[in-house]
Amino acid sequence: MNIFTVIELIIFIFPTYIANAIPVILCGDNKLDFGKSFFDGRRILGNGKTVRGFFAGIFGGIVIGGIISYFTVLTFFHDARIQFITFAMMSIGTMIGDAFGSFLKRRIGIEPGKPFILDQLMFLIIALLFAIPFISFVVFEWQSLAFLFIMTYILHTGSNFIANKLGWKSVPW
Ligand code: CTP
Ligand code: MG
Repeated sequence: MNIFTVIELIIFIFPTYIANAIPVILCGDNKLDFGKSFFDGRRILGNGKTVRGFFAGIFGGIVIGGIISYFTVLTFFHDARIQFITFAMMSIGTMIGDAFGSFLKRRIGIEPGKPFILDQLMFLIIALLFAIPFISFVVFEWQSLAFLFIMTYILHTGSNFIANKLGWKSVPW
């Protein structure tokens, strides 16, 4: 994996990071699960997932994806239009993956806001799944995947720590 691939992978995953980060700042009041509980008596998703956060994340990822696609087309993509569609799909995948991670956390009894390995990984997994139909397989070589997962884990952990210090998040994860 050369330096150009690394730079392309960073640009490739940037809209996904934006989608994942925006809800922390633009969280709303209405809960994505309408405050309802699942069969097990626990909340479906919990108070950490709001409707506004969900759509603000998707919107933010699409805007950033549009800006990137206006200026450059990565070698993973056939053209700017396919790239933009992929960024949009990945933004949707990010927020669905994020909510799905919360769903799984609630099922195993982890409270909202408490850290869990899925916090860093589920949104990335689902975002990448959503990209599969549109992309050449370079991104899905094991080196690229390892790079994306390791970088995401480090950045996610670091950014949550900073968000906590800035008072945006009450806990440092
Ligand atoms: N957020 C939101 N809507 C979303 C996702 C996140 O409003 N769809 C906001 C919430 O204020 C949330 C914060 O972003 O508390 C941090 O997101 P995250 O870490 O994903 O949620 P947690 O509160 O940790 O809850 P969970 O344990 O369910 O992940
Ligand atoms: Mg969290």
